[in-house]
Amino acid sequence: MIEFLYDTLEKIGYNHPIHPALTHIPMGLVIGAFIFAVIALLFRRTVLPQSAYNRIILLAFVFLFPTILFGYTDWQHFYEGAWLFPIKIKLVLSGVLIVLLVIALMVGRKAKKETKGMLVIYTLCFLTVIVIGYFGGQLVFEGEGRPLTVPMRFMVGEKLFAINCNDCHPHGEDILNALQLSDLNTFRAYLRDPKGDMPPFPPEKISDAQAKRLYQYITKMLEESKSK
Ligand code: HEC
Repeated sequence: MIEFLYDTLEKIGYNHPIHPALTHIPMGLVIGAFIFAVIALLFRRTVLPQSAYNRIILLAFVFLFPTILFGYTDWQHFYEGAWLFPIKIKLVLSGVLIVLLVIALMVGRKAKKETKGMLVIYTLCFLTVIVIGYFGGQLVFEGEGRPLTVPMRFMVGEKLFAINCNDCHPHGEDILNALQLSDLNTFRAYLRDPKGDMPPFPPEKISDAQAKRLYQYITKMLEESKSK
């Protein structure tokens, strides 16, 4: 089901994660509510009626669910569901954000106008989305703002290669032009039933999904590093 979705998207030319494209909707709405509430309190005047804030937050709440859902499917598809540290933080904080938005909605329904109390709640929501966004960035960029030499979505493949293949094929240099890498199915069939002295890798050792990650790592990362 998940693989079908990503395969279909790949066919029409969309081959990166879905979550980053969606996440701007709830994030932007939360940040918008926060900015309006700050301005209202700073200049001591009404910027928006409270009902407008409630609608902004409601929309953020509604769009949070597809955002989390596709965060989950991206995680399964690109990271094999590996428990990376930024993923854990994002998961916990998205739970926190759901709770905060529910509180904002419940308290906001009773509030008549912009108050300090509402600003505090929006500020907490704002801080939460900033930290979630920060760890989203960590998935793509290393701590010092440099892009990872191997993007995290290729790390599963990198690890599989290091464990299973690198001893006999250092950096994959001798196999990059191999016909067995022409497409995923050929590659998978070769892994299961190789020729000559190469040991076979049955599904217990490298699953079909892992073989795909491995294939993507060899064909995208290693070939790129060769062409540099
Ligand atoms: C124990 C050593 C060994 C390991 C481990 C190993 N290979 Fe091989 N591999 C070989 C040998 C030897 C050949 C050449 C086989 C032949 O055609 O005689 C080969 C051939 C290949 C080829 C075809 C190259 C060509 O030009 O024909 C590919 C692709 C390949 N290996 C990928 C992998 C991958 C991916 C892994 C890790 C999952 C792996 N190998 C692990 C020894 C190994």
